[in-house]
Amino acid sequence: MSGRVAIVTGASGGIGRVVATTYARHGAAVVVAARRAGALAQTAQLITDAGGTAHSVVADLTDETACTTVVRAALDRFGRVDTLVNNAAAPGTDAPVSEADSANWHAVLATNLVAPMTLSREVLRLAMLPARGGDIQFFSSAAARRVLPNKAHYAASKRALSALAETLALEVGPSGVRVNTVVIGAVSGDLVDGYVARTAASEGVDASVIRRRLSAGTALRRLVDPLEVAEVSAWLAGPAASAVTGQEIGVTGG
Ligand SMILES: NC(=O)c1ccc[n+]([C@@H]2O[C@H](COP(=O)([O-])OP(=O)(O)OC[C@H]3O[C@@H](n4cnc5c(N)ncnc54)[C@H](OP(=O)(O)O)[C@@H]3O)[C@@H](O)[C@H]2O)c1
Repeated sequence: MSGRVAIVTGASGGIGRVVATTYARHGAAVVVAARRAGALAQTAQLITDAGGTAHSVVADLTDETACTTVVRAALDRFGRVDTLVNNAAAPGTDAPVSEADSANWHAVLATNLVAPMTLSREVLRLAMLPARGGDIQFFSSAAARRVLPNKAHYAASKRALSALAETLALEVGPSGVRVNTVVIGAVSGDLVDGYVARTAASEGVDASVIRRRLSAGTALRRLVDPLEVAEVSAWLAGPAASAVTGQEIGVTGG
């Protein structure tokens, strides 16, 4: 990835931080974007401490102008954008549709669907279409394939990303831009810890029961490591995946 530039959203923690550091380890310059300045600076520091190149842009991606700012910052600093990883997302508050609050729906869709769509438009217009090449990735969830009660807002936002990716792949393929969706299973980290704690409390069981259930639902009988997501994403961004577009790649443990 030497000489290449990637934007990774939601890189202030979780999977995004691991994706950003992995891209940097493979030689890319990485533009990291999220709202929490301190946590984002820590990601950039991890990259520079390891000898890589990072540039942080503090941005709330639900603000349309912030999406433009992120792409312009990447171009100003590095002169090109080869990959956009749309990782940032919000889980929202779990509730059955019949009882849900529409402000929650709007907030989840704004972060998980409209922001990636806006950022993709900006990166296409400003960087990838003029350069006649690039790679856009959307991070979706196994929870959009095998849906769960009380998470319709999240599942709908994530399943919509696949339709967006497939449509975009057709629109921009002739210009040499590839667009794919990475479908992620339960990954060890804060998000799953929170889900496990909430579900255990609501069912009145020990957290280990919920963890075992999550693992038992996969072919590999385990959670996914964030690095396993990051390496697939890096492969997708690289020359080995040059004919891969319009696809859903599952990193779910099966
Ligand atoms: N963890 C899992 O088990 C799992 C499973 C399936 C799919 N996924 C998907 O994988 C991706 C990463 O998940 P994760 O577990 O790493 O989530 P996470 O730990 O909750 O991190 C989400 C990131 O998104 C950023 N973000 C949220 N709203 C934002 C906004 N409005 N503007 C800018 N940045 C925003 C957050 O940063 P700030 O708070 O600093 O803005 C944070 O860095 C998501 O797309 C998620 O849906 C995760």
